Amino acid sequence: MPKANKISTVAVIGAGQMGTGIAEVLAKHGYEALIYDLDKNRVRASIEASAGYFRRQGETGKMPGEAAEQAILRIKGAFSLPDLASADLVVEAVSENEGIKRKVFAEVCTVLKPDAILATNTSSLSITRLAASTDRPNRFIGIHFMNPVPVMKLVELVRGIGTDQETFATAKAFAESIGKTVTVSEDFPAFIVNRVLIPMINEAIYTLYEGVGNVEAIDTGMKLGANHPMGPLELADFIGLDTCLSIMQVLHEGLADSKYRPCPLLVKYVEAGWLGRKAQRGFYDYS
Ligand code: CAA
Repeated sequence: MPKANKISTVAVIGAGQMGTGIAEVLAKHGYEALIYDLDKNRVRASIEASAGYFRRQGETGKMPGEAAEQAILRIKGAFSLPDLASADLVVEAVSENEGIKRKVFAEVCTVLKPDAILATNTSSLSITRLAASTDRPNRFIGIHFMNPVPVMKLVELVRGIGTDQETFATAKAFAESIGKTVTVSEDFPAFIVNRVLIPMINEAIYTLYEGVGNVEAIDTGMKLGANHPMGPLELADFIGLDTCLSIMQVLHEGLADSKYRPCPLLVKYVEAGWLGRKAQRGFYDYS
């Protein structure tokens, strides 16, 4: 199995949709994945979901059965921070909240090897600012995966102002070793993909809000008219409306331009707890 220089064990912090997908891709490509979350039940559910994913891969012939079984064994639950001490790389994938992320990094730094690399899967926040909250800003980098992680080919790499060349080279080799194509973005709000994608989704929500079209018309229009695999409102539900709103807020505040104003309807849905698929309700009803 290909291994990026000096990395064999990777800690994934946050056992949600993204963390689970990241652990699956790691295990598939021969890395030991330690999955950690404050909520131990989420760790168990994540491991269970990944085992199901690999079993289906084996049963449908997408992976040899033996390889699928071995991949299942490479994902291990971490139930306290010291369990992460052997990690060569940490990938943080907790919710898109700067305070929570800073706290996670401050805590994990106390148990890590001094040369372990810290990576964040943030989809919008400043890498430089997050790095500054750790004891190793030179060994800190943004590795931004796309959802669903096992399917999407891209990873964005984002250096903070202090990220050293060795960390960048190791992260790039690592991302390529798990089958991803790398694009490099400078450290600006929401980087490249979300700078373009999330305002498009926000505009689709304005299109709904202003009554230009209904949900089906907007999504069908963009699926068949622009060849997008999902319509923008379906995609917003898939990403999570809270995440979409938080990215728009980072763009609005960070770039100080009214063109990034979050649509009031998006704000209202989030306030109602209609967060998309994960809440069973967003622009569509999933109950
Ligand atoms: N995990 C693993 N595999 C998955 C999966 C998941 N969560 N979801 C789908 N798949 C796999 C399926 O098993 C299937 O695999 P095979 O081709 O080997 O059979 C394949 O993906 C296609 O799935 P389906 O046939 O079920 O459905 P589909 O053809 O409609 O594709 C989709 C589903 C891949 C999600 C597609 O709709 C799509 O590409 N949507 C757009 C996704 C997108 O834009 N993602 C980026 C979001 S933005 C982001 O992530 C950045 C951010 O920070 C917010």
